[in-house]
Amino acid sequence: PLATTGDLVTRAAAARRAVAAFNIITLEHVEAVVAGAETAGTPVVLQVSENAVKYRYGRLLPLARAAVAAAERATVPVALHLDHVQSDTLLRQAPQAGFSSVMYDASRLPYAENLAATRAAADWAHARGLWIEAELGQVGGKNGQPPLDAHAPGARTDPAEARAFVADSGVDALAVAVGSVHAMTTRTATLDHDLVKRLAGTLDVPLVLHGSSGLPDGELAAAVAHGITKVNVGTALNIAMTGAIREYLAARPEAVDSRGYLTVGREAMVRTVVEIVRALGGPPPG
Ligand code: G3H
Ligand code: ZN
Repeated sequence: PLATTGDLVTRAAAARRAVAAFNIITLEHVEAVVAGAETAGTPVVLQVSENAVKYRYGRLLPLARAAVAAAERATVPVALHLDHVQSDTLLRQAPQAGFSSVMYDASRLPYAENLAATRAAADWAHARGLWIEAELGQVGGKNGQPPLDAHAPGARTDPAEARAFVADSGVDALAVAVGSVHAMTTRTATLDHDLVKRLAGTLDVPLVLHGSSGLPDGELAAAVAHGITKVNVGTALNIAMTGAIREYLAARPEAVDSRGYLTVGREAMVRTVVEIVRALGGPPPG
């Protein structure tokens, strides 16, 4: 059934677990994430980034409608989340399109501007019953930008600053920069686990990990153990899909039916979803 992100995150936090949130781009992504979550027996979040909307000719509704339909028929709870939103025009479309939550991303701005923009977005979102996540300390690597030096100022979220940011903005969850980077194609990143623990101890909102594709299973499990409650995964699905399609087409230069390669691409994504949600701790108790 269609669930809300706020409920899934609250339940995950109470069980000291994390909910996985996968970025969807095509209908195959939608189907694969739901199938993988059903196989593993875990709730899941389908998230649509502003970049994915741009790819879909700037239109949110076609993919959103497909995601809502898939969520309604799913045997596990599935929520819809709008990810990395910078555009107010897109933000305003969230409630009517079936999204229960948004990630408002002003993390590229200096602190005061990030806070002001995020606070305005949070007020707007809460007036419409939306759960809102924001980011402080940039998780680099979006839109082809070079990853930030892991030790550069801004590449780590400062706990005291984060506490003030959450209190002053009123957001429901915070994306934190703790060593992961967006769009990694190897699972070789390591997190600053001491910082994750300090942030979890300092903040009373759930912590969100971005750029999770770059982390091996053990790092993901440790992040959850140390207090991460929502784990965002995008690139890992595309690595799986594209790799499977490349292999399929290389072996079949005569292939023309798109269902052939999309099937293997979708199946590869299902396996990735199952592996990642199991790395986060398997099905919830009870
Ligand atoms: O918000 C989305 C995530 O941070 C995805 O990052 O593509 O590096 O897994 P990733
Ligand atoms: Zn992200």
